[in-house]
Amino acid sequence: MRRRVHDLYEIWAAAVRDLPSEHPETDLDFESWKRDDLEHPDLSDEGSFVALAGDRPVSLAFLTVDPARRLAYNQMTATLPDYRRRGLALMVKLASARWAAEAGIERLLTENDEENVGMLAINERLGYRPLYDQRGWAVELELPSAVPDESARSDESKRSSSV
Ligand SMILES: CC(C)(COP(=O)(O)OP(=O)(O)OC[C@H]1O[C@@H](n2cnc3c(N)ncnc32)[C@H](O)[C@@H]1OP(=O)(O)O)[C@@H](O)C(=O)NCCC(=O)NCCS
Repeated sequence: MRRRVHDLYEIWAAAVRDLPSEHPETDLDFESWKRDDLEHPDLSDEGSFVALAGDRPVSLAFLTVDPARRLAYNQMTATLPDYRRRGLALMVKLASARWAAEAGIERLLTENDEENVGMLAINERLGYRPLYDQRGWAVELELPSAVPDESARSDESKRSSSV
């Protein structure tokens, strides 16, 4: 499936644009995604699943695996907008979970924004349970004066993780 690299990127890019986040992803270019996600050394070809509509990839669940710790991580689950609410994300994420169980993986970790109701609903149906809350902090420095005075604002976003 890796040879369908542009189709996979299309799914990923559409998904990232729709991710609820206080700090939207701006690094959306193809080469960055290919280097950081598709060529991630821990990405499992066997544990990652893609749903096809005819010949077209329309939904994916990418899984990275740490066999030594018997741990796997749901790197990205996404469905093209025109194909949502047909059970595809549930299906590919379930396929990943089944593969992981058969491969001896003991824990599956996933991280989602607490406002991502769709993904949280899927996680709940698959049996994931909350593990920890994660907050991210950012300081926005206004140029040209980069002095952290009252013009520097702190911001906070919250994610939740489950296993
Ligand atoms: C979240 C996402 C992957 C869901 O994909 P999908 O293929 O539409 O999901 P499914 O059809 O398998 O949904 C299964 C169930 O989850 C729930 N669900 C899915 N999307 C939902 C939404 N937007 N709102 C509420 N519930 C939702 C429903 O219970 C749904 O079953 P139903 O349609 O019978 O009611 C998709 O909306 C997407 O790609 N979003 C952007 C990327 C993203 O947020 N990825 C997750 C972070 S890695």
